[in-house]
Amino acid sequence: MSEAIANVKAQFDAELAQTSMTDAQAVDALRVKYLGKKGLVTDLLKLMGGLSAEERPAYGKLVNELKSVVNDAIEAALATAQGAELERKLAGGWVDVSLPADGIPAGSTHPLYDVREEIIDIFAQMGFHVDLGRDVETDWYNFEALNTPPDHPSRDMQDTFYLDSKVMLRTHTSGTQIHYMETHQPPFRMIAPGHVFRVDSDATHAPMFQQCEGLVVDENITFAQLKGLLAIFAKRLFGENVKTRFRPSFFPFTEPSAEVDVSCVFCGGSGCRRCKGTGWMEIGGCGSVDPNVFANVGIDGEKYTGFAFGFGLDRIAMLRYQIPEIGLLTANDQRFLKQF
Ligand code: DAH
Repeated sequence: MSEAIANVKAQFDAELAQTSMTDAQAVDALRVKYLGKKGLVTDLLKLMGGLSAEERPAYGKLVNELKSVVNDAIEAALATAQGAELERKLAGGWVDVSLPADGIPAGSTHPLYDVREEIIDIFAQMGFHVDLGRDVETDWYNFEALNTPPDHPSRDMQDTFYLDSKVMLRTHTSGTQIHYMETHQPPFRMIAPGHVFRVDSDATHAPMFQQCEGLVVDENITFAQLKGLLAIFAKRLFGENVKTRFRPSFFPFTEPSAEVDVSCVFCGGSGCRRCKGTGWMEIGGCGSVDPNVFANVGIDGEKYTGFAFGFGLDRIAMLRYQIPEIGLLTANDQRFLKQF
């Protein structure tokens, strides 16, 4: 019987010698193989049942001695292997605890903000002042001073949110023209970007959106200059190949008035689904300042002439980044915003 014990001991010694002293997993596998429930040393103890009462104590003693020898050898090997693993990890690089924690996601600017900043840049380079105006306007600034009396039919197109019968969330940025002309003497050129509000909501209209107004007043200002300015603006914003088109239109505060189209940014003007086959996309309105508006702010309409324009920033952002729905711009959805 002691021969069986000696054999297991010899086998263990041989296997231990072959086990890597830097591999804790391999050492542990050895522990299971010898000391586990079905381990070789455990099996030796089970053989006691077949021995005579005289043989048992001596046999038991030998097996227990082997068990503790094996156990000690494995503990020692495990400690060596774990130490080696720690050394390996530390050698892999040192940790600078003064560095900021990683995993803080960096934000990015909103596409509408980018478009607005770009537009401000383009006009600032051409000497325009920027006036943000105010979101809440009185009837005078939003309509009447802009030559739009209370019963004017064009008011119907701009139904809005009234705070009381004469105070409202502005429906367009054009009112900022009035504030500006009341407080500045010509010559001047200004733009007024900002939020506007209307009772309107579908895939391309939202109850809150952004516009950018523009106004130039001086002696001898002409419609031709307006066309030239907006053509340059469109090229700077959409690229050199973009064409501009002016369609006769009506706005109470400009006369004559026009709507401004740019050649479709998706198809280059040949006609596609996005431009409904026309090759053109509308970006805003414009015109020569109506003499009645000058009279309302006390500017001499005989001496000065001017032009004004206004376009939708959301619309421009949608064209610029090919965004199909206006609501995406304000839905605050990370999956959308991460693309910019
Ligand atoms: N305020 C107009 C709108 O919201 C846009 C506009 C048209 C502004 C013509 C202008 C202009 O200054 O001259 O639809």
